[in-house]
Amino acid sequence: DNGLAGWLRYAPLPSSSHSDYTRPSSILALNSTASSPVYVAGQELQSGFKNILGDHIEIKHSGCQPSAVVVGTVAQYKDACGGIDGIPELAEDGFWLSTKGNGVQILGQNDRGALYGAFEYLSMLAQGNFSQVAYATNPSAPIRWVNQWDNMDGSIERGYGGPSIFFANGTIVEDLTRATQYARLLASIGLNAVVVNNVNANATTLTPENIEGLGRIADVFRPYGVQLGISLNFASPQTLGGLPTFDPLNSSVIAWWQNVTDEIYRRIPDMAGYLVKADSEGEPGPLTYNRTLADGANLFAKAVKNYGGIVMFRAFVYNQLDESDWKADRAKAAVQFFGPLDGKFDSNVVVQIKYGPIDFQVREPTSPLFAHLLNTNTAMELEVTQEYLGQQSHLLYLPPLWKTVLDFDLRVDGKQSVVRDIISGKRFDRPLGGWAAVVNVGTNTTWLGSHLAMSNLYAYGRLAWNPTNNVESILQDWIRLTFGFDLNVINGITKMSMDSWPAYESYSGNLGIQTLTDILYTHFGPNPASQDNNGWGQWTRADHLSVGMDRTVSNGTGYSGQYPAEIAAMYENIDTTPDDLLLWFHHVNWTHRLHSGKTVIQHFYDAHYAGAETAQTFLQTWESLKDKIDEERYNDVLTKFTYQSGHSIVWRDAINDFYWNMTGIPDAANRVGDH
Ligand code: GCU
Repeated sequence: DNGLAGWLRYAPLPSSSHSDYTRPSSILALNSTASSPVYVAGQELQSGFKNILGDHIEIKHSGCQPSAVVVGTVAQYKDACGGIDGIPELAEDGFWLSTKGNGVQILGQNDRGALYGAFEYLSMLAQGNFSQVAYATNPSAPIRWVNQWDNMDGSIERGYGGPSIFFANGTIVEDLTRATQYARLLASIGLNAVVVNNVNANATTLTPENIEGLGRIADVFRPYGVQLGISLNFASPQTLGGLPTFDPLNSSVIAWWQNVTDEIYRRIPDMAGYLVKADSEGEPGPLTYNRTLADGANLFAKAVKNYGGIVMFRAFVYNQLDESDWKADRAKAAVQFFGPLDGKFDSNVVVQIKYGPIDFQVREPTSPLFAHLLNTNTAMELEVTQEYLGQQSHLLYLPPLWKTVLDFDLRVDGKQSVVRDIISGKRFDRPLGGWAAVVNVGTNTTWLGSHLAMSNLYAYGRLAWNPTNNVESILQDWIRLTFGFDLNVINGITKMSMDSWPAYESYSGNLGIQTLTDILYTHFGPNPASQDNNGWGQWTRADHLSVGMDRTVSNGTGYSGQYPAEIAAMYENIDTTPDDLLLWFHHVNWTHRLHSGKTVIQHFYDAHYAGAETAQTFLQTWESLKDKIDEERYNDVLTKFTYQSGHSIVWRDAINDFYWNMTGIPDAANRVGDH
């Protein structure tokens, strides 16, 4: 099937493009154990050569031939072939790739690194790149995880690619073929763990039968260097264990968790660790017993510590609020809960922070919590699944959005403090840190429910490896690997993808007002009325005169004061607040003039027309590619763009009419309202 292979299609190259290329004499994979990533790398290289170049190349596991493609760890290479010059010290999971001279050397710091190197080399070949290179590359951070929000019954919370590839009917599915294929895709982009079950976790994940099932998943992940992680339900000692309490400081509770952890590690000795959502959105947590969130996190940290496990503890904690209180603000919650706990977490705890302070909106300022945890490990949480962002029915290439946060300089202590250097551990000299993305692939043969949505998963892995990578060139690698070399295809998909986030923002929520999608039930489609008049705290405070959340210290919620001084000053002042976050930080009249010179209301009207118009061009562009893409994928994507072109108009008119009705302010171009 055309979707299953994702970007690992390894389509044949036209023979003219590789007539000068010298074939390797053999593939030397320096490990003969079939479950090792180095062995798998040998197999991948062999099938890659066969598919891309049409050559059958033999695999060996011993000897040392200069004209071979050698794959293994640096240490294995030394044993087999003697030393090698010029390789700098590699970080965990890093690799050296040299195609210079006769053979090719792909040498990992560990087994997994060797496999990553093999995939990188294959990616070059598949793109017709036979250049001579010799370089070492290391990941930006050790934690490069995927979160799946899969429930034990097989449904997936906020999943748009069909039911779970892991679970059905309360247990782990028999056939783990798709789990194996998933691990392969993830390894090819340098991702190293999957938390397989939903953060809103079910305690029954931890029954002996299910631990055995999780063990089977870990077994199929392992050859790809992918580790398994587990989301926990904080109340499990009570609901599953039958204890009278789940107090994290109670000795029987501590013993219960240790016991379950020991059982898990008996079956899965390389289990990555736990992911914990506690005291959030109705999930149980330590606050029930007046214990701190750090007490809660450290309970698990101690249980996994001797096994080398990690606890990812989510910062997504907030309470329902009273909208009549002008100073109430959900955006402040993470810093309020976690700021005072800095330094109180064990060394194997990582606080996992969503990119913005609310919830994966189309535009948010960088979460200020990144500037408060100087003595705590942190990771950034992204969403590949397009929860508020069109749910894979709209094209939205997310990396440009992610970059607004990754590249943001928080100026902690007046010094450069770019978010990507905070999560890597570099800025505050932390031993651990990294990346998590909610991905939510399902059994759909496109994985995510849409062929084009896979560019986001691909780019997530590439950015987690190196967040300074250019997002457009990542995209073009993905297009070549997925759709080939036709320039119209490359240019067309590039343009649509790069236009997609600005377009979606234009026809949904502008100027930092949030996405304006329905927030109460579906998180899909326009519903600006759903934002206000409830306790969720995603308010717009729009009325017939004015709009926006006043988050200033001087007159509002005080949120802007959670940033370090230079950033706080920028957001406090309406003149230095960028237009695209104006309504996030300030409450203004609809007739307030932006830096662009337009009024707020006219900006809304115009942006909605412009964004919907851009979405119409996606359909036209796609139709122009008809004979250049196989029929199956062409038709699948055509259906999506047909839908999006209509739905963008629904968005445009719903939002424009809503605010026209509210304000009565006419559209200067006379498109909105009764005529
Ligand atoms: C969002 C999402 C929920 C999810 C929550 C979380 O609010 O809609 O489905 O459980 O985030 O990240 O915990």
